[in-house]
Amino acid sequence: MKWSQTLIPTLKESPSEAEIDSHKLMIRAGLIRRITAGAYAYLPLGTLVLNKVITIVREEMNRAGAIEVFLPALQHLDLLKESGRLKVFGADLITFQDRHGKETVLSPTHEEVITYIVKNEINSYKQLPITLYQIQTKFRDEMRPRFGVLRSKEFIMKDAYSFDIDEKGLNNSYQLMYDAYCRIFDRCGLDYIIAEADSGAMGGDASHEFMVPSPVGEDILILCQNCGYSANRERAESAPFSPQENPSKEKVKEIFTPGKHTIAEVSDFLKVNPMQMVKTLIYSSHDQLFAVLLRGDHEVNETRLAGVLGLDSVELANLETIERVTGAKTGFAGPVGLKMKIVADHAVAAKSNFVTGANKTDYHLLNVNPERDFKIDQVANIRYVTKGDNCPRCNHVLEISQGIEIGHVFKLGTKYSIALKAHYLDADGKEKPKIMGCYGIGVNRIIAAIIEKSHDDNGIIWPMSLAPYHIIIIPVNVKDSICMDAAKDIYDDIRAMNGIDVLFDDRDLRPGVKFKDADLIGIPIKIIIGKKYTETKEVEIKLRKSGEVSFVRMENVRQELERILKNQTKI
Ligand SMILES: Nc1ncnc2c1ncn2[C@@H]1O[C@H](COP(=O)(O)OP(=O)(O)O)[C@@H](O)[C@H]1O
Ligand SMILES: [Mg+2]
Ligand SMILES: [Zn+2]
Repeated sequence: MKWSQTLIPTLKESPSEAEIDSHKLMIRAGLIRRITAGAYAYLPLGTLVLNKVITIVREEMNRAGAIEVFLPALQHLDLLKESGRLKVFGADLITFQDRHGKETVLSPTHEEVITYIVKNEINSYKQLPITLYQIQTKFRDEMRPRFGVLRSKEFIMKDAYSFDIDEKGLNNSYQLMYDAYCRIFDRCGLDYIIAEADSGAMGGDASHEFMVPSPVGEDILILCQNCGYSANRERAESAPFSPQENPSKEKVKEIFTPGKHTIAEVSDFLKVNPMQMVKTLIYSSHDQLFAVLLRGDHEVNETRLAGVLGLDSVELANLETIERVTGAKTGFAGPVGLKMKIVADHAVAAKSNFVTGANKTDYHLLNVNPERDFKIDQVANIRYVTKGDNCPRCNHVLEISQGIEIGHVFKLGTKYSIALKAHYLDADGKEKPKIMGCYGIGVNRIIAAIIEKSHDDNGIIWPMSLAPYHIIIIPVNVKDSICMDAAKDIYDDIRAMNGIDVLFDDRDLRPGVKFKDADLIGIPIKIIIGKKYTETKEVEIKLRKSGEVSFVRMENVRQELERILKNQTKI
């Protein structure tokens, strides 16, 4: 491709709308332009990259035996109502009424649609297993679309759905996708971590997120450098603390703490560390009340809490309820004398002589001890991991970092097939729900994640697998016909090479501008035809990533390129 014939509008300055490097560079390198909040146009260079990602994804899906389909972006609300997910998506759904008044939605994902199709078209165990996938646009009215294509309202997802007759089949389908994801991200040149993720109703090892560690990532990642344990924040747990041996239990003392409700206020007022305090939260689930005890500096993880109690959801009780059951204004609840089930985090069970609410407005208790002063009904891991926590597997100290979620695999089980009645007839003639898995990859996000990791002050550094062009040919002076003829010869020669995409910078611009642009758009290999060519017939070959330079005679260019392409670690 000749630069003059395509559209690569590079910018010198970073646009003010962009906060992070990948977003800035995607705009400056002319890959994308913002059209409205969370919606981007892909210009020619961006489209080339997008198509390279899509090709890799498609090849690996097909290799894994998944079958491609293409579902509509439009669906009506009924399916989401039937699956019960209307509430889950809430304001993220982009809905409208069509001209007949039918409530219509731009699909945020396609579990319901695919289940509907498979329910109608697949009835027998003989037609299973099957994994169907598509590469298509999703719409979510994200609360905070930001960082360019990293979190947008309209984005391309590869979504796949597996249908099996039993759990063994599901495990097999899941593993095939998991392995395909590894191949995809490896081929894209991404460094990623596979983190255990919350697995909802399925429990166990039923969900993994593929994360690229990055300070701009919006997901929190818990990692153990010693044994490799990794999980997202929702899912991660820590090793329980061992209780102090034979603590000398002091006498309980009631203390006046006027108007001090929060951990911070009480900690300040009494000069005790929040670690020495216990907070009591009153929760409800289906009208059942229970109390949750956490160390003052810890935060409850409601997903875990619901999980350990075997409940579908839990919510904090309202103010009136709290005041009724504790007999005090909120902020003064405590476990002593409380008449309900008490669930305590491990860290609380291991503590002695702590400060907690007195169930009496404006009072707290000092020196409270579990077992002696109140009974814990259940000890469990119900909180988020914090700094200083240890690995649940090997007890090494855990690391907390951030990551970009680029893919997600999930064993769904029968959630959708039961809700939407997607059954099949088993070999013995019995009707059973199909067992499902779902698997998503953020296609646009891969591009942003790569750039975030692979760039320098001058611009993007593409891996060969995603580079819009592998080679750029730069004649330094387009008016010098000897150089220009040589550049054209090289261009024709490379165009004939298999699988190599080449860009010819035929613009009549100052060499400095052309070199800067070539670096900005990140082309792995530059071939520069300059003054030296007229003197010694040599051209310069320069690698974007390593900066390595070689001078080769015109007739050896092809050979040198083949040598470079063989050793892809440098490019
Ligand atoms: N708003 C978005 N913009 C870009 N990519 C997204 C967005 N939301 C999700 N993705 C991508 O789609 C993949 C599958 O989506 P899903 O797991 O349903 O998303 P989430 O975890 O945000 O609910 C994610 O791993 C991510 O790579
Ligand atoms: Mg996800
Ligand atoms: Zn570990």
